[in-house]
Amino acid sequence: MAAAYDSYDYSAYWEGRDYEHNSEVVALKKILEKIPKIGTIIDIGAGFGRLTPVYAFRGKKVIIAEPSAKLLSLARKNLTNYQNLEFVQASVEILSEKVPKGRADLVLMVRVAHHLLSLESAFRAVNSLLKPGGFFVLEFANKLHFKAIFKELLHGNINYSSELSPKDARSPKSIRNHTISFLNHHPKNVGLILEKTGFKVLDKLSVSNFRNRILKKYIPMELLISLESAFQKPLSYINFGPSIFVLAQKIS
Ligand SMILES: C[S@@+](CC[C@H](N)C(=O)[O-])C[C@H]1O[C@@H](n2cnc3c(N)ncnc32)[C@H](O)[C@@H]1O
Repeated sequence: MAAAYDSYDYSAYWEGRDYEHNSEVVALKKILEKIPKIGTIIDIGAGFGRLTPVYAFRGKKVIIAEPSAKLLSLARKNLTNYQNLEFVQASVEILSEKVPKGRADLVLMVRVAHHLLSLESAFRAVNSLLKPGGFFVLEFANKLHFKAIFKELLHGNINYSSELSPKDARSPKSIRNHTISFLNHHPKNVGLILEKTGFKVLDKLSVSNFRNRILKKYIPMELLISLESAFQKPLSYINFGPSIFVLAQKIS
C-alpha cells in the first residue's frame, strides 16, 4: 500500500528552512550528549535521513525505519557514506514485526508524532523495541506554541491551553480530503502518555523558537542559531516554540 509521503516532495519542503533544520541539529546534539553509550539506534519515520548525520556516528548499528518507499529509497541514496545502516520499510505500528524487540539503546522519532492518531500505541511500540533503560528522543509539534496561544486567545478561546486534546492543524480543505493527520500535541498530555507507557522524562527543549519570516530574513543565520541554542532550555519551561524535543528513558 502506498504511504502518504510517497506522493509528496519532502526534500523540497526543506528548501528555505535552514534555520529550522539547524535548530533541530543543535537540539539533537545537546540531547545526544546526555546519552552515555549507544549500541543500536532506530530512527522511526526517518524520512530521507535528514538527521542521520547527527547521530549515526554514535551507534554501532542504525536502523532507518520509514513507511514511504520513496523516502526510504532517497535515504539509501543520501546515506551511502555510512557502513552501519540498515533500512527497513515499516511504520511504527508494525516495526516490531520487522526488527527484534528489546534490543535498541536509542529510538528517535522526529516530526512523526503529528501524523499519529494514537500516541499511546506508538509509544508502547517504541517501548517494546528498547532495552531496559533505553532512551527515546521524541519531537512533537507543540499545541501550546506561543503564537498559537495568542491566536486562540484573540478568537476568545480562553480554555485552549488547558484542553489536553491535540489540535488538528490541517486546513478545512485537507480535512475534507482526508489528508494525513497533522496534530499539534499538548506537552502535558505527551508527558502523561510517556509516563503511562513506561517512560520517565529526563529533559525537554523548546525548538525553532525564532521561526519568523522577518527574523530569518534580517538576522544572520549564525547569530540566530546562537540565540536559538541559548534559549532552547529556558524557553522549554514555558513550552514557547513550535517544536518540542523530549529525552525520555524506559523505566518499565
Ligand atoms: C515530516 S516527515 C519527518 C521525517 C524525518 N523524521 C525528519 O525529521 O526529516 C514525517 C515522516 O513520518 C513518516 N510517518 C508517517 N506516519 C508514520 C507512522 N505511522 N510510523 C512511522 N513513520 C511515519 C513519514 O513517512 C515521513 O517520513
